[in-house]
Amino acid sequence: MPESSFSTSTQTRLSQISAHMASTAPTSFHADVVPQAPEDPLFGLMAAFRKDTFENKVDLGIGAYRDNNAKPWVLPVVKKADEILRSDPNLNHEYLPIAGLQEFTSASQKLILGADSPAIKERRVTSLQTISGTGAVHLGALFLSKFYHPNTKRAVYFSNPTWVNHHQIFSNVHLPHHTYPYFSKKTKGLDFEGMIESIENAPEGSIILLHACAHNPTGVDPTQDQWKEICKVMQAKKHFPFFDCAYQGFASGDLNKDAWAVRYFIDQGFELCIAQSYAKNFGLYGERAGCFHFVTGPSPDAENIISRIASQLAILQRSEISNPPAYGARIASLVLNDAELFAEWEDNLRTMSGRIIDMRRTLRSKLEEMGTPGTWNHITDQIGMFSFTGLTEKQVLKIREDAHVYMTKNGRISMAGLNTHNIEYFAKAVDKVIRETQ
Ligand SMILES: Cc1ncc(COP(=O)(O)O)c(C=O)c1O
Repeated sequence: MPESSFSTSTQTRLSQISAHMASTAPTSFHADVVPQAPEDPLFGLMAAFRKDTFENKVDLGIGAYRDNNAKPWVLPVVKKADEILRSDPNLNHEYLPIAGLQEFTSASQKLILGADSPAIKERRVTSLQTISGTGAVHLGALFLSKFYHPNTKRAVYFSNPTWVNHHQIFSNVHLPHHTYPYFSKKTKGLDFEGMIESIENAPEGSIILLHACAHNPTGVDPTQDQWKEICKVMQAKKHFPFFDCAYQGFASGDLNKDAWAVRYFIDQGFELCIAQSYAKNFGLYGERAGCFHFVTGPSPDAENIISRIASQLAILQRSEISNPPAYGARIASLVLNDAELFAEWEDNLRTMSGRIIDMRRTLRSKLEEMGTPGTWNHITDQIGMFSFTGLTEKQVLKIREDAHVYMTKNGRISMAGLNTHNIEYFAKAVDKVIRETQ
């Protein structure tokens, strides 16, 4: 056989073998079943920011507090609690109970429900320490998926938009989800009529996920009167409220004010649940301290009901994480249970929320001074960590390209990324991008 014809036939044979091998690659997880998932948009944005070598780049993506020098801030009260813990000769690394550190969960109940809550007095609350707020949302979703009107066409309703993880968490436990209108592009405020109409039209007994305060990503919260209306409609439709509370004290600087909606719903007799995070208000992001609370309505049988629910939650928790991590909860617990440290924490909360409120005021006045096209009252009307600027996706990409300012594609900025050193730069970049894309 001539050499060339030998090599051609060998090549053909080799490619046949390799094609055969590819189709029988030793995995059960082929691309048609396990396709490549897209990168998490927020974590992708963080990576792009880190890579950028421009000196005056601005990070407005990350949902974590930064001080006036754009640095992470360890709350002074957390430092103090950390030192107390470290010098405690009795500290050990034993497992916590399944439901977590008891003094932490009971202090957490008081924090969100109020120390004089009738639900606590009547022993109709059960609480479990969780892997921060995400774990609390997950535990609640899992419990509802298993026990809330099983074998019926139940569904959960999220605000449009909402924290993106809500969609994933509820999908993972196979609870169908829909959305209710929330953000009005026109006013850059609450689409209250749309929200009410949608909640009214949802099938009776739907689960309605509500952000307790400082809505993520819009920074738009209902007023107290609007909450009362929402409550009325939900009562009439026998809906189940699921409160996600990731910013108590961080929004207004006042822990009670930020818990108002949750407490109001409880006063109206609802059975509901709450996911509580200590990531933002204690700056304990990576320590994963959080709590899940289930509150049943007032009834002679309430204690029995809550005992049954607690027993099932414990089984779910045991099978998922066995027991929660100790350190962050110990820090929070020390502060929550000590009057002096608690007062210092409130002061630290006012520092964080106050700086953010200042940045909102400054940004609005700079844009208004420059006569930047559009209205800017929404910057100070919105509350908490985030602001929906109203910038379009095209403008977001352009401002990143031209000015090295990083924000999510929906135009959300983390107010904590602004400071007295970069706010002028940012305001001018916004002004420029708006004028150039008009
Ligand atoms: C609305 C909302 N829920 C829950 C969380 C959960 O956060 P973590 O798991 O860090 O406590 C966040 C964090 O960004 C949030 O914004």
